[in-house]
Order: sequence, then C-alpha cells, then structure tokens
Amino acid sequence: MALKITVIGTGYLGATHAAAMAELGFEVLGLDVVPEKIEMLAAGRVPMYEPGLEELLAKHVAGIEGSSGRLRFTTSWEEVGEFGDVHFVCVNTPQKHGEYACDMSYVDAAFASLAPQLKDGALVVGKSTVPVGSADRLARLLAEQAPVGVELAWNPEFLREGFAVQDTLHPDRIVVGLESERAEKLMREVYATPVAEGSPFVVTDFPTAELVKTSANSFLATKISFINAMAEVCEAAGGDVVKLAEAIGYDERIGKKFLRAGIGFGGGCLPKDIRAFMARAGELGADQALTFLREVDSINMRRRGHMVELARDAVGGDSFLGKRVAVLGATFKPDSDDVRDSPALNVAGQIHLQGGQVTVYDPKGMANARRLFPTLGYADSALEAVRGADVVLHLTEWREFRELDPAELGAETSSRIILDGRNALDAEAWREAGWTYRAMGRPRA
Ligand code: UGA
Repeated sequence: MALKITVIGTGYLGATHAAAMAELGFEVLGLDVVPEKIEMLAAGRVPMYEPGLEELLAKHVAGIEGSSGRLRFTTSWEEVGEFGDVHFVCVNTPQKHGEYACDMSYVDAAFASLAPQLKDGALVVGKSTVPVGSADRLARLLAEQAPVGVELAWNPEFLREGFAVQDTLHPDRIVVGLESERAEKLMREVYATPVAEGSPFVVTDFPTAELVKTSANSFLATKISFINAMAEVCEAAGGDVVKLAEAIGYDERIGKKFLRAGIGFGGGCLPKDIRAFMARAGELGADQALTFLREVDSINMRRRGHMVELARDAVGGDSFLGKRVAVLGATFKPDSDDVRDSPALNVAGQIHLQGGQVTVYDPKGMANARRLFPTLGYADSALEAVRGADVVLHLTEWREFRELDPAELGAETSSRIILDGRNALDAEAWREAGWTYRAMGRPRA
C-alpha cells in the first residue's frame, strides 16, 4: 500500500510540500491551525504568491474538477494522526523578539499536538529550520508521548521562494538525519521519484542534518556579504563590482551565483537563520567559530543605510524634507509577495521616517507591504509611483522593472535620477534617455 502523508503547517514550505507530495503520487492530508488558510487551500487557492503553486494545488485538491483528489486539508490533529504513515512538520521558526535565538514554540506545539494522536510505527519528519540539538530533544519527546514504534527523521528543506515548486519536485539534494534502517527505507520510499531522477540522497545523524541547513544558508549569506563588501571597496577605489563578480565567477571554485551586489539579503530565512546559528553556537560554547557571521550580518545591514545615504545625496544632500521618493519594489526578492525583513521596505521606511514622501509600487507585494508599513504611500503602477519624484529607487529586481521604458517614466518624474539597488537595470538605456543612473559598487558615469 502506498504511504499516506501528512503535512503540518501550510506556509510557503508546507503548502508547496503538500502539493508536491500529491504530485509524486501520495495521498496527502495538510493541517494548519489557522482555519482561514485551510478553507482557502481546500478551495485550491494559495494564501501567498508562489509561481506554479496554485496550478499544482488545483491539479490535486479533492473536490476540484479534474483533480487527482489526492490532496485534502484539515484542522483536526486526530484526523492527521489516524491518516498518516509519514508526517512532515513544516511550521515556521521565526526569530525571537528582542533576541537572536529562534522561536521554537510553533515546532514544540506541533509535536505536542501530534504525538498522542500518532499511529503505531508512524514516522515524524522535521522540516522546519531548527537549532542543532532540537531533533534529539524532539525524539525524546516522541519516545515519552507517542505510541511505541514512532520514530523521528530530520529532513531539512532547501527550497527558494519563487522557485518553491521546482525546488521541491527536483531538489539539488535530499538530506535526511535518521536513526534506523526502517526510517531510511520509509524516506527512500517518499523520495523515490526525485532520487531516480538523480537527486543525491544524503543520510546523516540528527545534528549533521540540522547543521547542513543552517550552514548552507550561512554560506549563501556570506557569499552575498562578501560581494557587498567588495562593492564598498569598489566604491572607494573607483572599481566596478559587477565586472569584478563576473570575473571572479569564471573561477569554478568561486562560481557566478549569489554574487549580485546591491542592498543585500532579506526575507524570512537568511537573516534570522544566521542569527539563530550564532545564538546556538554560543550556547554550545562554539561562539568563536561563528563570529564572522556577525560581520556578514553587519555588512548586510549597512547596505540598507548606504542606499538611504545615496538617495539623500541624490535629492540634494541635507535631508529628505519636502522630497518625493519613488520606490520600485517592496518584496525581499522578485517572484514572491514576501516582505519579511525586506531590504526594499526597510529603505523605504527609513526614508519615510526621515521626512521623505515615499511612494512604493510592487507587482505582487502591495497587500503585505501595506499591512507592515501602513504609513508609506502606495501606487498602483510604476508610472504612478514615479509621478513628480525627485529620485527613483529600484530596490527589487522584478522583470517588470527591467522592462520599463525610461523615456516614458522620465516624462512623469520631477528629476531623472535613478538609483539601482540591485544592479539589474540596463544602465546605458537609462542614461540614453537622459537619466542619471547610479548603482551600488559601480563608478558614476
Ligand atoms: C533561502 C535559500 O536560498 C534557500 O536555499 C533556503 O531553503 C531558504 O532560504 C530557506 O531557508 O527556507 P530564499 O529566502 O527564498 O531562500 O531567498 P534567496 O534566493 O536565498 O535570496 C535571499 C536574499 O538574498 C534576497 O533578499 C535576495 O535579493 C538576496 N540576494 C540573493 C542578493 O542580494 N544577492 C544575490 O546574489 C543573491
């Protein structure tokens, strides 16, 4: 009999994982404690913007015409416990308020609710990003509170927002921390399709699986901060960081990816993961090993301040008072509606707090941005956002912004100055249309 799978938590990770498991052929039951989310998902609608996810849901959610019917949703722990052979825990682990450490309360609550409902022999699989040591602790909790034979595996997730469906169905690698042959057999059964397609399957112990996730995100964050540090040096020395990144990227050991300099990284993962990693290393007495991450974090946060300074310079130097600033982009990256710790919104907010009249436009992030920063001005299009602007800031590299016509925009603004915080626009095209184009880590023309 084919395995029955449940997915606990239906955010970016859980909703995508549930739909992907149904796509791989399993019967899937998704649970969330927020009834409105479950209602939406059960109707085949996604509570966030993630390319391809709505289509995948529609293909599998029971009750939708023409669907496989393999995917259902519930708010009942009892139903989940009774249904599942393998339970993926995909709840979020945000940064604790006022601390670097990660808030484990959602994970702990999920395990506490799930444990007593489980069937004999069920496998619980942790996917949330957690501090190393959590899996050992949660395995002990299951041993105390779940029926005999229930086991734990730890299977970190590496999906990128904007590519979540593709990354889940065709992962670069599958990493599983486990403690028994039976758990390995079950996990190999779950991932048989991607493994047959060539995804490497890496078996580890619990702490290594947990560390693979946090170290991968730390490496990515370090790569971005490295190139942003080079951008600072380029600015001081008159160099061009885009050329520099291209040139060092030809070395295969370095590689071209994740070397885009700009206003730095944000989102619900990289910033909080490196902080939680430092906090955990401190608890383990290994804080010295990760002090470099403090530098990675501060280089990154400096980028936002630097963009504010460039904008202030552009509008005359002293202050933003009486100046109109158009901000193109609110999400932390393109192809997402996620504004968590978004560098773009952070810059917009700082300028607003310094007295600038800020108008933001984003293709998909408007609703979330309005909720987070209700006091900023918002426009329904890029053209409307730049109307009367003294400076235009390009802060999230949506394709829509790359395709803008600089001449058309220039007819709306009060002065033609654009600051490219993502090094993603065609500098020549903007300059030819009479704009002063400035980017980060590149010489002024
Ligand atoms: C990141 C990791 O890339 C995923 O592998 C991981 O699974 C995920 O976190 C997670 O822990 O859940 P994500 O947060 O979706 O994925 O975003 P990234 O594509 O990593 O981008 C993060 C930030 O870095 C964005 O703000 C992006 O604009 C910025 N970035 C990225 C740069 O500034 N420069 C670059 O060269 C690349």
